[in-house]
Amino acid sequence: MDAFRPSDALVALLRGPGPILALTGAGVSAESGLATFRGPGGLWEGHDPAALATPEAFARDPLLVWRFYAWRRARAAEARPNAGHLALAALERARGDVRVVTQNVDGLHERAGSPSVVRLHGSLWTLRCVGDGTEKEDFRADLGALPPRCGCGAFLRPGVVWFGEALPEREIREAFDLARRARLVLVAGTSSLVQPAASLPRIARDAGAYVVEVNPDETPLSASVDERLAGPSGAVLPRLAEAAGAAVDRTG
Ligand code: OAD
Repeated sequence: MDAFRPSDALVALLRGPGPILALTGAGVSAESGLATFRGPGGLWEGHDPAALATPEAFARDPLLVWRFYAWRRARAAEARPNAGHLALAALERARGDVRVVTQNVDGLHERAGSPSVVRLHGSLWTLRCVGDGTEKEDFRADLGALPPRCGCGAFLRPGVVWFGEALPEREIREAFDLARRARLVLVAGTSSLVQPAASLPRIARDAGAYVVEVNPDETPLSASVDERLAGPSGAVLPRLAEAAGAAVDRTG
C-alpha cells in the first residue's frame, strides 16, 4: 500500500454530496518550479524575501522591492500549472461544489482553469496605487525595472498582501464561510504557519468537516487532521480528483 492512497472514507466523501474546500499554499506550485517560502530556494540577490515583502521596504527602496516582484512575475509567467492545479480545476468542473482558497499569488490555479479562486494574499497580476488605492489587473510579464506610476502620480505596487498588512476583507469572509460549510477540506502544500489561513482547517473540522492534509512533510496541522496523504500534490491531487470521477489532465 502506498503512502498516499486515499482511504475508503475519503473516496466516499469525494464521490458523495457536500461542498469541498481546497486550501492551498506555495507547495502546490513547487512542481511548477516556483520556490516555496520556507523551503530551499532561499535568498533573492542576497535578500531575505520576507524582508522585502513589507510596506516599509517599498517605502524605503521602491526600486529594489519592484525588481524583486518583477522577478517573481517573470518566474510565474514562465511557470505552467502542474497536475495538482489541473486536478483541482477538474474536480471543480466535475462536481461544481468545490472551491479553491489559496495563499498563492502566482495565478496558476486560475490558469489551470479553476473558475473562482479565493485569493487570500492577493495577486502578482494586480497593481495597486499607493496613493489613491485603485487597483487594476495587468498580466504583462515584464513591466520594466521601475515601478510604474498611477495617473495620480504615485507609485503602483504589487497587489499582494505584505507582512503587517490586513487580508482583503471580502476574501477572508468568504474563506471562513466556505470552511464552516465544507463537508471535506483538502489542505495542500501549505506549512500551516501563517494566520488566518492556518485556522481555516480547524474551523472546518469543528463544524464537522473531514480534513485531509496533502504534504510530503509534517506541519503543525498534521496532528489534528483526519487523514494525511504524505506525497507531492502533483501526484496526490490527481488521484483524489480521479476518485471523484473527474477526468484529469496529468501533463501539467
Ligand atoms: P510555505 O513555504 O510556508 O510552505 C510550503 C509547504 O509546502 C511546506 O509545508 C512543504 O512541505 C510543502 N510542499 C513542498 N513541496 C510540496 C509538494 N510538491 N506538494 C505538496 N506540498 C509541498 O508556504 P505557504 O504555507 O504557502 O504569505 O506560506 C504561507 C504564506 O507565508 C505565504 O502565502 C506568504 C508567506 O509569508 C504572504 O506573502 C502574505
